[in-house]
Amino acid sequence: PVLVVDYGAQYAQLIARRVREANAFSEVVPHTTPVADLLARDPGAIILSGGPSSVYAEGAPGLDPALLEAGVPVFGMCYGFQAMAQALGGTVERTGLREYGSTPANVREGGSTLFKGQPEEQSVWMSHGDAVTKAPERMQVTADTPNAPVAAFEDDERRLYGVQWHPEVMHSTFGQRVLENFLRDGAGLACDWTPASIVTEQVERIRAQVGDARVICGLSGGVDSSVAAALVQKAVGDQLTCVFVDHGLLRQGEAEQVEEDFVQATGVDLVTVDAAEQFLTALAGVSDPETKRKIIGREFIRCFEQAARDIVGGAQADGHPVRFLVQGTLYPDVVESGGGSGTANIKSHHNVGGLPDDLQFTLVEPLRDLFKDEVRQVGLELGVPEGIVWRQPFPGPGLGIRIIGEVTADRLATLRAADAIVRAELTEAGLDREIWQCPVVLLADIRSVGVQGDGRTYGHPIVLRPVSSEDAMTADWTRVPFDVLAGISTRITNEVPEVNRVVLDVTSKPPGTIEWE
Ligand code: XMP
Repeated sequence: PVLVVDYGAQYAQLIARRVREANAFSEVVPHTTPVADLLARDPGAIILSGGPSSVYAEGAPGLDPALLEAGVPVFGMCYGFQAMAQALGGTVERTGLREYGSTPANVREGGSTLFKGQPEEQSVWMSHGDAVTKAPERMQVTADTPNAPVAAFEDDERRLYGVQWHPEVMHSTFGQRVLENFLRDGAGLACDWTPASIVTEQVERIRAQVGDARVICGLSGGVDSSVAAALVQKAVGDQLTCVFVDHGLLRQGEAEQVEEDFVQATGVDLVTVDAAEQFLTALAGVSDPETKRKIIGREFIRCFEQAARDIVGGAQADGHPVRFLVQGTLYPDVVESGGGSGTANIKSHHNVGGLPDDLQFTLVEPLRDLFKDEVRQVGLELGVPEGIVWRQPFPGPGLGIRIIGEVTADRLATLRAADAIVRAELTEAGLDREIWQCPVVLLADIRSVGVQGDGRTYGHPIVLRPVSSEDAMTADWTRVPFDVLAGISTRITNEVPEVNRVVLDVTSKPPGTIEWE
């Protein structure tokens, strides 16, 4: 992989995405990772991200010079660039001349690897107070800006490169080209990580992992589990049985749709488990979000265990029940459940942090390294129908984490009715592709006073949470046209008796998350 060393930048994930867009597989690692551990992963290249510190500030995250001597190509950006300069014996100073935002840069195209084939004047996105005032020895200076005399340096022999700016942000007009030049020409990577190559590689891995054993796959009808199932089916064919757990936390019409769409499209063997009672009982009296998530994660597994015993025919030839469980876990699920290296637990995704400790299954998770948009590309590559591939995300814990307060059958019915209206109206307005997803949330423990037909009402608010996003790691609230919002509000308050108020969530992520729990 191409490892992005995270110096505390908001940009590290974005850098990893840009590398992936250049068709090289990339992952983020914390800057505290020892050099030996980095090298043990056999990286094709290493990128040092930006970060908030000054390289000479006390406690500033350091750069072990050994990393620059290991023969692995390295590209430093912003803080990473300065850390490189310092580690190699250059000078980094607080010049008092800061640069923030779009800045004109002069680049020397001739003889440069990073800037080959690009105009000599380009706009770059800067964010620095310190500057490299003297380049390290053997480094060729290939760019400058008004306040940064050394704004880029390169050494083809040692394959070390750096730029003062942020090539990963859109505002650096040739940023992606600079990054690609580094990956292809600087680091000599093949850049052939494509949906097709992911499929080939994963099919091989799945075969190696499961051999001729039977496998079950938890299917939700969403993109992730559908693509995971399609991959496993391609790998091991009829060793696979899909299990659809109807946990009673689904939206209107969802269970039927899964059965129709997926089975029709793939012909896969599907078993449906009706577990609504089981989940409701387990959730009774619970309002804490993390507790709900853990309960739901656990009950899912209990259902799969039951399915593995009963439905799939019990013991296999070797006397073991089915032990492989396929899940459509994605990279962001892992990161947000605190499973990424050095990341905080934001919430326990049902299929990662919400798994019970006594899990007996061996997990098969072919999408664990991928972002949603990459999964969609893999889905298209596999021939999964577009209707499924472009479906908006819906979380495994379903409406259970969209009822703020205890989950009850009545509350579910209320939320289901409101949600169906929202979905119908947004589809009608042609906004499905523009909106990443629109959670509809019932504030079940809150009431407000209203007036309807001459009478007082004391009902619950419904929150609309339409968001736009590239990968759900960050998001912005979608500017849904007012008349569409008005139509939704009127319909919900007219048609759902328990609801007398509709409110709009106008928070980005961060600081909000997409779901309310
Ligand atoms: P948050 O709320 O963390 O959501 O901003 C990010 C994305 O993940 C989805 N989500 C989940 N998906 N199991 C899932 O399969 C979960 O437990 C889960 N929690 C959140 C959420 O809908 C959004 O797309």
